[in-house]
Amino acid sequence: MIIIKSPREIAIMKEAGRLVAKVFEMVGPMIKPGVSTYEINEAAEKIIYDAGGSCPCKGYYGYPAGTCVSVNDTLIHGIPSKKIIVQEGDIVSLDVVACLKGYCADATRTFLVGAGKENVKRLMEVCRQAFFAGIKQAKPGQRVGDISAAIQQHVESAGYQVARNFAGHGIGKNMHEEPSVPNYGTPGTGPLLQVGMALAVEPMILEGQAQTRVLEDGWTVKSKDGKLTCHYENTIIIAEGGCEIITLTEGEKKING
Ligand code: MF3
Ligand code: CO
Repeated sequence: MIIIKSPREIAIMKEAGRLVAKVFEMVGPMIKPGVSTYEINEAAEKIIYDAGGSCPCKGYYGYPAGTCVSVNDTLIHGIPSKKIIVQEGDIVSLDVVACLKGYCADATRTFLVGAGKENVKRLMEVCRQAFFAGIKQAKPGQRVGDISAAIQQHVESAGYQVARNFAGHGIGKNMHEEPSVPNYGTPGTGPLLQVGMALAVEPMILEGQAQTRVLEDGWTVKSKDGKLTCHYENTIIIAEGGCEIITLTEGEKKING
């Protein structure tokens, strides 16, 4: 069952979304050579807790941290570690879910550390653009498969692959709700989008082959071929004639709006 959110619930989700965006604004600048992914997570958690929020990832099926910090060939679910030190040229994705007053918002940004090579910058840009191609379809009357197909089309026409075994999702009181929002699919299929639905749309893409593997820790998902990966995510609310992105930073609102 897909839960439709009331205007009151949407207003609270927007507060949670602003908190997630604030994490990117404040933690982004510290993602520099020498910082550990543990320190990045600590800073992110502190911002959320100081605002009176909670981190639903912590303890989720035993996941040990409040955020996921995934470097280079790690696609998603990188467990923050004192041993993983960010280096010049790395790409570091920070996946943040924050709950405030009982409602969650979920977003991911991938940060480039220092000057990136052209192939790295292109991968990041295609990932971000795939999200926007996807949400062009996110309006009442369209279906989830329209979002999925648009993401897949954008990524594959750029020569990259989408991850097959992980997907975006509905979000609200729980960080994962129905429907599943895959990054591949067929236009015109899947659940119908309606005003008041809240979705986390999240292209997870690979520079090389689509295959992934999970490390012994049971969480860390890497590309099987060791090539680079990227992740970009926002929480959106379906509205009349379109959708509203609720996890953009102030800087991003200026560029995107
Ligand atoms: N943002 C991730 C998601 O959409 C959150 C994963 S948290 C974890 O699924 F607990 F599952 F690691
Ligand atoms: Co998500």
